[in-house]
Amino acid sequence: MQTLITSAAQSITRNDFIPEIEMGLLAQSAWISPKFLYDPLGSHLFTAITLLPEYYPSNTEKNIFSQYQNQITDAVGSGGTLIDLGAGNCQKAEYLFNSLKPASYLAIDFSVEYLQDALTKIQGKYPHIHMQCIGMDFSKQIVIPNSITTCKRTFFYPGSSIGNFLKSEAIQLLRQIKNQARDGGLLIGVDLMKEDSVLMAAYDDPLKVTAAFNLNILRSINSHIGSNFKVDQFRHTVKINHAENRVELYLEALEDLTVSWLGNSRVFKRGDLIHTENSHKYTIESIKELLKNAGFETAQIWTDPKNYFAVIYAQ
Ligand code: TRP
Repeated sequence: MQTLITSAAQSITRNDFIPEIEMGLLAQSAWISPKFLYDPLGSHLFTAITLLPEYYPSNTEKNIFSQYQNQITDAVGSGGTLIDLGAGNCQKAEYLFNSLKPASYLAIDFSVEYLQDALTKIQGKYPHIHMQCIGMDFSKQIVIPNSITTCKRTFFYPGSSIGNFLKSEAIQLLRQIKNQARDGGLLIGVDLMKEDSVLMAAYDDPLKVTAAFNLNILRSINSHIGSNFKVDQFRHTVKINHAENRVELYLEALEDLTVSWLGNSRVFKRGDLIHTENSHKYTIESIKELLKNAGFETAQIWTDPKNYFAVIYAQ
């Protein structure tokens, strides 16, 4: 079968993001959208995070998939299109190819150059699966191209990326998935609330890979808007917000400094924070409620023995 790799990289242009980046940098409490974590180096650093023993979500999710492979395959069924949201290196989807046997695979990620390399590699291994990739920022809107006409669309959203959205945004995203899934459904990985020590180790690992990943966002922003952030003037900081059930990631200024770009500037005092990410942690009850509010009628749930993580198939 023909190898078809399409890219909508042109739909993501640097200039599109300038207003959003400026809004965050000039806000009273500065913030940078987490999508800018995933430049080519950031995508590699995130892959390294998933290999850390402290970053339990990746291993735990993988173990759930292997332990319950038969049940998950029965629930999801075979054929149709597997639509991978935030495909990254496509490894998680590849792991499902032999059991779910999709007819086609649509990989979507913000980091499109990284995605294209990954897809080219796996297409060679699975020549019978029709593969396409799209560069898309689906944090606001998911638009599945009309060329994906199969009735059955299985949306695959692993890694608890849903946790990176506020509840209201998560519902919006899940509703759009529900409305576009046709006869298929959503196979999603969700991180569960647990003790602080486990969360802290996962988000502030001793090798400092996570710190490098978070700090790299400043270089990514420099390349988008020509700012002059210096990574050694900041440090990676983690807070656990119990009221909101989430881990909050920040970069903290280590000294008084001024960052300038495109005729604008921002003063940071020592100790000032830039918010880069929220990672919401759910309970089985709260995720069921969220899926129900998004329009899903059924949810089959698999967890690990420690109840660290859940894999859910919702329809
Ligand atoms: N989606 C991942 C998560 O919330 C992203 C992530 C892991 C992350 N470690 C991080 C984001 C550190 C910013 C900083 O688990």
